[in-house]
Amino acid sequence: MASAGQKVVLITGCSSGIGLGIAVMLARDKQQRYYVIATMRDLKRQDKLVCAAGDTYGKTLTVCTLDVCSNESVRQCVDSVKDRHIDILINNAGVGLVGPVEGLSLDDMMKVFETNFFGAVRMIKEVMPDMKKRRSGHIIVISSVMGLQGVAFNDVYAASKFAIEGFCESLAVQLLKFNVTMSMIEPGPVHTEFEMKMYDDVSKKEYPNTDPETMHHFRTCYLPTSVNIFQGLGQTPEDIAKVTKKVIESPRPPFRSLTNPLYTPIVALKYADDSGDLSLHTFYHMLYNLGGVMHVSVRIMKVLSFSCMRRRAVSPD
Ligand SMILES: NC(=O)c1ccc[n+]([C@@H]2O[C@H](COP(=O)([O-])OP(=O)(O)OC[C@H]3O[C@@H](n4cnc5c(N)ncnc54)[C@H](OP(=O)(O)O)[C@@H]3O)[C@@H](O)[C@H]2O)c1
Ligand SMILES: *[C@@H]1O[C@H](CO)[C@@H](O)[C@H](O)[C@H]1NC(C)=O
Ligand SMILES: *[C@@H]1O[C@H](CO)[C@@H](O)[C@H](O)[C@H]1NC(C)=O
Repeated sequence: MASAGQKVVLITGCSSGIGLGIAVMLARDKQQRYYVIATMRDLKRQDKLVCAAGDTYGKTLTVCTLDVCSNESVRQCVDSVKDRHIDILINNAGVGLVGPVEGLSLDDMMKVFETNFFGAVRMIKEVMPDMKKRRSGHIIVISSVMGLQGVAFNDVYAASKFAIEGFCESLAVQLLKFNVTMSMIEPGPVHTEFEMKMYDDVSKKEYPNTDPETMHHFRTCYLPTSVNIFQGLGQTPEDIAKVTKKVIESPRPPFRSLTNPLYTPIVALKYADDSGDLSLHTFYHMLYNLGGVMHVSVRIMKVLSFSCMRRRAVSPD
């Protein structure tokens, strides 16, 4: 149980990746400021977390079953928390989906929304009323750069992250009135099981009803570029955990945090040109004109972001 002065943190999707990384980093806080309720939908997958938690397990970290897609599971887990008191809710559970839209079933698309959008909404609905009553709390969402900028062949995943961004951006204003803070964390590529699951899925899926030309673009332009970008720009779950801990500990937590500065110019492009054509054509160029050329897209992003940061550095602030 949490001791006096400790903040109770509930995190979804802690069996691997970013959720596991955040859970362990907070549980290992030197001053033991956090009591972490690390949740996952299947406790049979808890070994990796328990092992990484080491001697914090049973002290500053406990494990609880929670499937963000199930009303009963969410209710049961939150009810099991003393006084239902959660200071910090971290919505991390999420699934990916890539491929040409023609080749994906509507069922698969809905599953992505069920987890990434409605899963987070279900959690927020369960926890937020108590936070409002107490006039204190912090809701964090592990969103994505793709919640701000769409990426080819990630149509539905990006849409699910845009959806949660729109939801939270709206809700955040009202929550401020109740002294409840909302923060979005927007990682670029991160080396986790997410990446592996995606390539695994792609190698198994058939993508029926997709014309050969689109399949060719997907397999020979998109996929190699994607592998390339993960290799060149991928962060670790610990990188994301560090940013998240910093946001939690900030006296005035920011609403948005891009974890990877290389993506700042990509997002800036979108707002720099209100016709939207600048980002559209930049992405087109990256995918089709440079896709096959090793590392070029990564280099372009580095150059873009360097000149952007330089401009920032000289602009009077
Ligand atoms: N990796 C990236 O490049 C990247 C980039 C930007 C944002 N993100 C976001 O970061 C978050 C974490 O992803 P990750 O990279 O750490 O991937 P991951 O290693 O695949 O972890 C995803 C976690 O979500 C859990 N999950 C899936 N469906 C769930 C459900 N219905 N209820 C509860 N938990 C569920 C998974 O549990 P199971 O083990 O039971 O499947 C797993 O623990 C996601 O929201 C993702 O969209 C990832
Ligand atoms: C979950 O709860 C909502 C109302 O809060 C209800 O509309 C929905 O049908 C429930 N889902 C299941 C699977 O019971
Ligand atoms: C607002 O929330 C913060 C952090 O949870 C808390 O320290 C502070 O006491 C709260 N302020 C009010 C006026 O309730």
